[in-house]
Amino acid sequence: MKTIILHSYKGGTGKTTIALNIAIGFAKKGYKTLAIDADLNAPTFESIFTGLKPKYKFNDLFEMQKMKAKSYTDKNAELNPPTPKDLPVKSLIHENLDLIFANSKPQFGVGLLSMDKNFHAEALKRLYNAKSEFEKLGYDYLIIDTSPSLNLASINSIIIADASLIVLRPNKYGIAGTTFLLKELYSMLGTVKRKDYIIFNQIVVGTPEKLVTQWQKHFKKRLGVETVGTIHCNCGIALNMLFGNLIIEDDTENEFLVAIDKIIKKLHHDLKN
Ligand SMILES: Nc1ncnc2c1ncn2[C@@H]1O[C@H](COP(=O)(O)OP(=O)(O)O)[C@@H](O)[C@H]1O
Ligand SMILES: [Mg+2]
Repeated sequence: MKTIILHSYKGGTGKTTIALNIAIGFAKKGYKTLAIDADLNAPTFESIFTGLKPKYKFNDLFEMQKMKAKSYTDKNAELNPPTPKDLPVKSLIHENLDLIFANSKPQFGVGLLSMDKNFHAEALKRLYNAKSEFEKLGYDYLIIDTSPSLNLASINSIIIADASLIVLRPNKYGIAGTTFLLKELYSMLGTVKRKDYIIFNQIVVGTPEKLVTQWQKHFKKRLGVETVGTIHCNCGIALNMLFGNLIIEDDTENEFLVAIDKIIKKLHHDLKN
């Protein structure tokens, strides 16, 4: 199983849209895929997959109190925390795609994000354990959609990933912020085996191509990070979202889907070993 995380310095760059379309893309190619909404600050799966009512959410993996309760009162099933295997639900849009939701009550997300290092050290162990349980369930790809910026919860997801897709809007702030994010990550985590990639999303029509090329070179030369996708601003995508749909329908002409397909093929190739 390969784990791919979507991350960004700022919110609204297109992480969730890209995460879900990559997940459905892998599913359509025959890979058993699990997409996790790990954006604890602003969960989105619940508003997209409105027909699904999962019993457990991603947050439940990190409920430390419930974990303690287990050792005292094993008899009471309600107090037993869910195991990772209890979390995935069928997406109903493709047989190969399962989902894990995040808890939409803001206090759950904010609470977890603001916990201290000790909490997150324990949370990281649980995440590793969850990852190996998901692998046992037969998933080929795990796609994790995170909260933007440098927070310990997202850093944990980055630590367990085989690849990260860092999504940015190409403008002065997007470039500066993403450069900062990557530098901080490298100074914090050192050189790890994970492969990082940049996706330029929502490129405003009229942006000089030369500028985009310059930005790509900037990430490659300064940080050694390759660009895997350049996607223009496309009102069709935003319109889809207006109706709560983030999955872009099959259309071979669609620049977004062409980019997604290219990213899937590149990831599949680069993560083979
Ligand atoms: N290439 C694009 N062109 C136009 N709108 C886009 C594009 N990519 C994403 N969007 C829109 O931008 C908004 C934020 O996207 P979202 O995936 O929720 O970002 P994030 O998860 O990073 O916060 C949504 O309304 C989405 O439809
Ligand atoms: Mg999002």
